[in-house]
Amino acid sequence: MKPLFIFGTRPEALKLIPLIKQFKNPVICLTGQHKEMLAQVMSLFKMKAGYDLKVMKKDQTLFSITAGILLKIEKILEKEKPDCVIVQGDTTTTLAGALAAFYKKIPVGYVEAGLRSFDKYRPFPEEMNRKLVTPLADIYFAPTKEAAKNLINEGINKKNIYMTGNTSIDTLMLMVQEQKSREKALLNFFKAAYGIEFDKKTILVTGHRRENFGKGFLNICAALKETALKNDVDIIYPVHLNPQVQKPVNKILSGIKNIYLIPPQEYDKFVFLMQKAYFIITDSGGVQEEAPSLKKPVLVMREVTERKEGVAAGNAVLVGTDRKKIVKFASALLKGGALYKKMTAKKNPYGDGKASKKIGDILKKIIPA
Ligand code: UD1
Ligand code: UDP
Repeated sequence: MKPLFIFGTRPEALKLIPLIKQFKNPVICLTGQHKEMLAQVMSLFKMKAGYDLKVMKKDQTLFSITAGILLKIEKILEKEKPDCVIVQGDTTTTLAGALAAFYKKIPVGYVEAGLRSFDKYRPFPEEMNRKLVTPLADIYFAPTKEAAKNLINEGINKKNIYMTGNTSIDTLMLMVQEQKSREKALLNFFKAAYGIEFDKKTILVTGHRRENFGKGFLNICAALKETALKNDVDIIYPVHLNPQVQKPVNKILSGIKNIYLIPPQEYDKFVFLMQKAYFIITDSGGVQEEAPSLKKPVLVMREVTERKEGVAAGNAVLVGTDRKKIVKFASALLKGGALYKKMTAKKNPYGDGKASKKIGDILKKIIPA
């Protein structure tokens, strides 16, 4: 069986690599929607791609990504004639990949199917990407019961839906295990590279959502500045390479001595930062899944989330981009106490670390070679 994996951003790579490893003859086609942030993952996991469409442009638009992928991928599908195409998640690469496979009448396996915020513009464009990929796909790998239920409610035939857990937890568990013997080296790395000593409580921050650009990011930065000035805390913030993020973050937060603005981190380094963090503030989808596994409270800088399980479990709170709310929750968590205890998850709702094996076995069984 020859599957062709199409992906192009950091989270898709992190979530597909353990699945790719289940196959003898996988073909990897990168769209290159991300460049440096994708290369970091590919090199860390020693993965080599057969194709790279190299679509990334500085400050790119949704038009250039979608059109760029569609124009370049046709010939590759014609040449490789895969038995199925596998896409993951909700990026513009996911949508263009599924659409391209549909145009060629190749069956589509959809990993992380069924997440819904039920708000067309939040996250933007991801909620619509998920909804559009759904009818283009043929086999659905839902990470949770909630996700499977959403697909059934949209009329997807139950027999094509498999509840597997999220593959992000597979990658995370592997990394946590691998890191156990490397604590000292990782501590040395952060000290040497950025002067970070982990000698106080640390808050780890990430942010990149398009709907937060502009006013949202200005509020986020104001909240982080206030939190850093008010408390005896270190804030560690690996800043996404998007110029829409870089500009406000560097302008407002550089020069504050207890805020460390650092480049996007390789996944092993980032997992170490999550483990060292007292809690996390993020608008990321993947980080919302990883935090409960590591028993870390997470403040989610969104009005709505498709990862409702973390909120239901009490591990995540939606704080949006409201400056006062972010400061209030961050200060309360820093005090420890009841809120901190309540938000320190007991179990992970997103998976058991075996999703990729389950998905691989199902694909090999149902897709004819
Ligand atoms: C994309 C996805 C988002 C996903 C996120 C993961 C879309 C529309 N967005 O958002 O769903 O959550 O990836 O991180 O699919 N850049 C670089 N180097 C890189 C990566 C990005 O310089 O390695 C800069 C470029 O200027 C690029 C910009 O960031 O134009 C935006 O990248 P883009 O993929 O459009 O948006 P993300 O916010 O990364
Ligand atoms: N991540 C990473 N380095 C960083 C920040 C995040 O490796 O500096 C990982 C994180 O652990 C998670 C994934 O990247 O697995 C999330 O990516 P991102 O937040 O960019 O995208 P989203 O999940 O929101 O689509």
